[in-house]
Amino acid sequence: MPSTKPLSIGPIGFGLMGMTWRAHQTPDEQAFTAMKAAIANGATFWSTADFYGPGNSTAGISLVRRYFDKYPTDADKVTLFVKGCADPKSLYPTNNRAGVRASVDNCIRILGGTKKIDVFGPTRQDPSVPLEETIGELKSLVDEGKIGGVGLSEVGAETIKKAHAIYPLSLVEVEFSLWSTELLTNGVAATAKSLDIPIVAYSPLGRGFLTGQLKSIKDIPEGDIRLYFDRFKPENFDKNLDLVDKLKAFAQKTGVTPAQLALAWVLANSNSGDCGTIIPIPGATTAARVEENTKQVTLSSSDKAELDAILSSVPISGGRYNQQLEMTLWG
Ligand SMILES: NC(=O)c1ccc[n+]([C@@H]2O[C@H](COP(=O)([O-])OP(=O)(O)OC[C@H]3O[C@@H](n4cnc5c(N)ncnc54)[C@H](OP(=O)(O)O)[C@@H]3O)[C@@H](O)[C@H]2O)c1
Repeated sequence: MPSTKPLSIGPIGFGLMGMTWRAHQTPDEQAFTAMKAAIANGATFWSTADFYGPGNSTAGISLVRRYFDKYPTDADKVTLFVKGCADPKSLYPTNNRAGVRASVDNCIRILGGTKKIDVFGPTRQDPSVPLEETIGELKSLVDEGKIGGVGLSEVGAETIKKAHAIYPLSLVEVEFSLWSTELLTNGVAATAKSLDIPIVAYSPLGRGFLTGQLKSIKDIPEGDIRLYFDRFKPENFDKNLDLVDKLKAFAQKTGVTPAQLALAWVLANSNSGDCGTIIPIPGATTAARVEENTKQVTLSSSDKAELDAILSSVPISGGRYNQQLEMTLWG
């Protein structure tokens, strides 16, 4: 019977997107050192996608292949989640039977037996394909031993319930951070908890914004995906710095870095109130950042309350993505 739960998940995971889905690729030597540091520090849940590369290519999967080619004994230490089923040109979902199978087979081909796909799922919902068809094909792929389990990304509560009834989900990956708190109120956290499905919190550092390293929009390199998102538009960026300034002051007061504070807040929500297990997956391209991010900080309940009060007092300007992509969210 295949596992329906990820195998080895520590409190903090690792997002691989930034290594390859950028104008400038992280050189292998640097990427491998960061990946090694992730394993050494317990961040053994890795999240990637079959379109995380220049021109939505499979460079992200190839990086994983090269890493495990070089370090084969690390393969069993890592739980790998791969998102796929996206047209490489448009990124439009290809969640029909053929699309799901082609995406999985392509990833398996690229991985070349170096690493098993522990969990796989479509990156977005496809309104033109019944969920039964997508999940049904994923179940077949589990039964055939091609993937270890099924995970969904950027989904709403109803889809989680419906999908889980067709085949038990191993995880749900949705955005969650100090400036993206919707899952606390839109039923996603409560539903995942009620079904005992772990939530993987993506972009937990607000795509880098919450680390305080971005002081001006000019700090974002040309060609960077963030420049297409509303929160990073000039009319919103400076307003949102207000939150970062408050977080920086709070971090300084508590003796941690802003990145550690952002992750500690996500972890403080895990297994608390309406939330079941939540695993943040910060992305980073250097070992030093991985080490900083995996140095777990525990927030006291009064610190958490104070941070929550700061969040309620500072409105966030601009949506998570943009008007064009809005309808693909919480699908
Ligand atoms: N399911 C989805 O739709 C979806 C969408 C987006 C992301 N994701 C997943 O979530 C993962 C993480 O998300 P993300 O990369 O968008 O955002 P993130 O983890 O919130 O932030 C990553 C950014 O923060 C910077 N950073 C990391 N640690 C830092 C530190 N200690 N100090 C200063 N800066 C630091 C990184 O810099 P460097 O990288 O330059 O080191 C990078 O620019 C991705 O790898 C991907 O797997 C999923």
